Amino acid sequence: MKAANFLNLLLAVALVLLCAKLCLSPAPAPAPAGPASAADPEAPAPSSALAAEAAPAPLGPWRDVSPKDAVMDPAAIGLRDTMLLASGRKGDFNAMTIGWWGTGVLWKKPVVSVYVSGSRHTWGFMETNETFTVCAFPDGYESALMYMGRHSGRDGDKVGPAGLTAAFTDAGNPFFSEAQLVLECRRIYKTVLDDHAQLPEEARRLYDNGMLPHTMYVGEITAVRTRVPKH
Ligand SMILES: Cc1cc2nc3c(=O)[nH]c(=O)nc-3n(C[C@H](O)[C@H](O)[C@H](O)COP(=O)(O)O)c2cc1C
Repeated sequence: MKAANFLNLLLAVALVLLCAKLCLSPAPAPAPAGPASAADPEAPAPSSALAAEAAPAPLGPWRDVSPKDAVMDPAAIGLRDTMLLASGRKGDFNAMTIGWWGTGVLWKKPVVSVYVSGSRHTWGFMETNETFTVCAFPDGYESALMYMGRHSGRDGDKVGPAGLTAAFTDAGNPFFSEAQLVLECRRIYKTVLDDHAQLPEEARRLYDNGMLPHTMYVGEITAVRTRVPKH
């Protein structure tokens, strides 16, 4: 065989091998819901959101905690940096992921404050309902929380696709069966955080793309139910 023919043969074999490798390689896995990104300005620092998702552990029985005790020792009741805010009634409610919130005492009442942009579908529910709930979830619901924070109830049901189940308290407030902690709240104050002169520089930039300002809702915590994963 001439040297040129031998080279051509070698090239052909290499090409066949390359094609076989490309065809047999597994398709890339679909991108996971993933951690919060720059597109989620209210997301907490990535450490917790980046935690690998564990299979949720079964939860123990519900335990009622006094709202005053709950705000004095928030870690003990299972508050998380990323939670779900829900408002409305059965058949007409909405929920979204929140990363901005705070618990404390105001006017001698145990309170939680949440911050909802006027661009959110949930905002309308917060405006028309005096009550809302804040739910925390055990490990294993990170992607459900991301789903609820990246889809709008305006576009259709997102609770089912997120793998969550809506339930309602005795008072008729929405919460989620998978939650580990439910704070039931009654709004006692609200104000729109739209005084740009007072906003820190980095907060001012959040609204450059047209996002409406956040409204701060302060809710008196009227009931707290919590439970811990079974071991
Ligand atoms: C981790 C995370 C935290 C978020 N925190 C807030 C928040 O505190 N306030 C807010 O207005 N939006 C927040 N968002 C954005 C809303 O959850 C998101 O826009 C959601 O799709 C709104 O849903 P809705 O239109 O059904 O109300 C957050 C999103 C993520 C992913």
